Amino acid sequence: MKSFDIKTKIYFGDGALERLRELKYSRVLIITDPFVVQSGMIRLITYKLDEAGISFDIFQDVVPDPPVEKIVGGVKYLLDYRPEAIITVGGGSAIDSAKAIREFSMKIGQLEEMPLVAIPTTSGTGSEVTSFSVITDSEKAIKYPLVSESLIPNEAILDAELVKSVPPSVTADTGMDVFTHALEAYVSVENNEFSAALAEKAIEICGSFLLRAYLDGNDMHARQKMHVASCLAGLAFNSANLGLNHGMAHQLGANFHIPHGRANAMLLPHIIEFNSDINIHSRSRKEYLPAVKKYVNIAKLLGLINFNTITTVRALVNWVQFMLKEMDMPISISQWGKVSEQDYMAAVSSMADAALADGCTATNPRKPNKADVMEIYRNIW
Ligand SMILES: NC(=O)c1ccc[n+]([C@@H]2O[C@H](COP(=O)([O-])OP(=O)(O)OC[C@H]3O[C@@H](n4cnc5c(N)ncnc54)[C@H](O)[C@@H]3O)[C@@H](O)[C@H]2O)c1
Ligand SMILES: [Fe+2]
Repeated sequence: MKSFDIKTKIYFGDGALERLRELKYSRVLIITDPFVVQSGMIRLITYKLDEAGISFDIFQDVVPDPPVEKIVGGVKYLLDYRPEAIITVGGGSAIDSAKAIREFSMKIGQLEEMPLVAIPTTSGTGSEVTSFSVITDSEKAIKYPLVSESLIPNEAILDAELVKSVPPSVTADTGMDVFTHALEAYVSVENNEFSAALAEKAIEICGSFLLRAYLDGNDMHARQKMHVASCLAGLAFNSANLGLNHGMAHQLGANFHIPHGRANAMLLPHIIEFNSDINIHSRSRKEYLPAVKKYVNIAKLLGLINFNTITTVRALVNWVQFMLKEMDMPISISQWGKVSEQDYMAAVSSMADAALADGCTATNPRKPNKADVMEIYRNIW
């Protein structure tokens, strides 16, 4: 038996932030990252809370790839302030932090209910609607996706005004994260008709609007579309889970702090090739692997029709590589240029172990072994 539900009430479109005026809480804690406060963006939120007579405090000690220590700090802050609800504003790192802070505060403080309102400022993770919170254990250099229904935010407010300031490189990283979520959910062993419909729409939007949003951050039509695509892809993988791409990307984030979407994008051509095994000679092929047909559907959705099954999957790989090139994204770790070959190669074996143990890898359409994962890590060098 399967089931599908959307637990988060989603407010979107022009003026979505108006929802804040309708909130019925008297005291909220805002969990956000320093950018949101320092850029003044926070005033778009606090101004509305002031008008609605809602008092608030701000916890802004969020960093990318949120480590356990910061979550502990947030729990102490929350238990001290005792808000009725949490509003989190920021990218996936802020939203994931807020989810974990709420979860642990409720357990430690034996609190009964604390609604969470998530307001994303990047179009990437879909964290505003998912049961995932990705936390980093800096000491062990491992990123853990915590997964629990209780992590899902109660409300999400999608207002593309907040994304306008995202610089092109972050638009590229987060946009490729959206695409990877949708594609991994689409080929996952847990895919179903509901997740597939959501993933297809997210992919179609990425095909038409990601490059536009990258080239002109003020193109509000493209920004709005990508903001919705991010949420659709989040709903898709919340139902179907992800795959090896995310299992491996988490370790690159934990070990070398490669931005999450950039790590995913670098891996994606290699993962499509692995999942479809398109590099073997057709004479030795008995049948296609399960993901092949699905990749062909996606290629068609992107308008990449080619003369046979394998060349169509190849066209999808080429499309991903084209996107990386057009958005000036590194196609390899060496091109990224922030880690030495020696340090990288020394980490390959332990990263492969952690990737195989990562919860996302379990639903990959082709089961990898350690040698496969190590080879992909070496190939992206
Ligand atoms: N929970 C989930 O379902 C899920 C899914 C995928 C990824 N993740 C996690 O989310 C994190 C990545 O989130 P992200 O990609 O949104 O990046 P992020 O939250 O780490 O933010 C990246 C950078 O962009 C800045 N930024 C955010 N909004 C901005 C804006 N409007 N204008 C200008 N700059 C802005 C931030 O300050 C930060 O420096 C990773 O830890 C990843 O593992 C979670
Ligand atoms: Fe992701």
